[in-house]
Amino acid sequence: MSALDPAAADLAKRAAAARAVSMVTEGMRVGLGSGSTSAWFTRLLAERMAAEGLRVSAVPTSSGTARLAAELGVPLTRIEAVGRLDLTVDGADEFDPALNLIKGGGAALLQEKIVAAASARLVIIADPVKRVPRLGAFPLPVEVVRFGWPVTRKAIEDALAPLGLAGRRTSVRQGAAGPLVTDEGHHIIDLHLGEIPDVPALAAALTAIPGVVEHGLFVGMADCVILGYPDGTAEVLNRLGVAPRAVIDIDAEMRDEDA
Ligand code: A5P
Repeated sequence: MSALDPAAADLAKRAAAARAVSMVTEGMRVGLGSGSTSAWFTRLLAERMAAEGLRVSAVPTSSGTARLAAELGVPLTRIEAVGRLDLTVDGADEFDPALNLIKGGGAALLQEKIVAAASARLVIIADPVKRVPRLGAFPLPVEVVRFGWPVTRKAIEDALAPLGLAGRRTSVRQGAAGPLVTDEGHHIIDLHLGEIPDVPALAAALTAIPGVVEHGLFVGMADCVILGYPDGTAEVLNRLGVAPRAVIDIDAEMRDEDA
């Protein structure tokens, strides 16, 4: 889908977040994603807490989300204090028909992946622009340690060739004063791939490179995507046909709750 204007995109993000926030129940341990769509979820969660007295403990996935949640009065805890989470709701930069994702456009992919992996359910909220037939148009972020990062960058470029991605451009994410430093003190290399022929193979190749801390491919992690539309409606896409971690039919669950 071609780009939405900013106001329409914001309405779509809010619609997706509103649907996700209705899944939160009393006492849940909730992972709070990062980015503009997740910010809607945090705001609407704070609204429900204030209006209904709903209590949750929340784990943020970035310093930005932690700040927003604190401002809104959402009680925060550390992931090690809870161990496992019931539900994480996060955005994505792209998702494909198998619900594999590219994340990390906001440079928070490392904490996002740790929190997602510790969650019983990962629900992705997105506007229609994020839906793609194949991942790769959005530059794939790879988080690398600062020590020797140009060598790591070269190793990443070399690893692309056998995967049908020879010669693809890479760039170093810039911050206010030189290469951006993530919340965990690393740099980000963005891979401009166009289209990724084999997502699991690329994920495995990147993970194997010394100096790579994490990459923005989330393979088989999302249990569903909630797709919001500018008219305020939302559609739930469940992950089907690929070895499910915990496929859920949210619509059925919500019907049961309403009954
Ligand atoms: C943050 O690092 C990302 O993974 C975000 O979840 C992703 O970039 C989506 O952000 P938006 O909701 O702002 O599009």
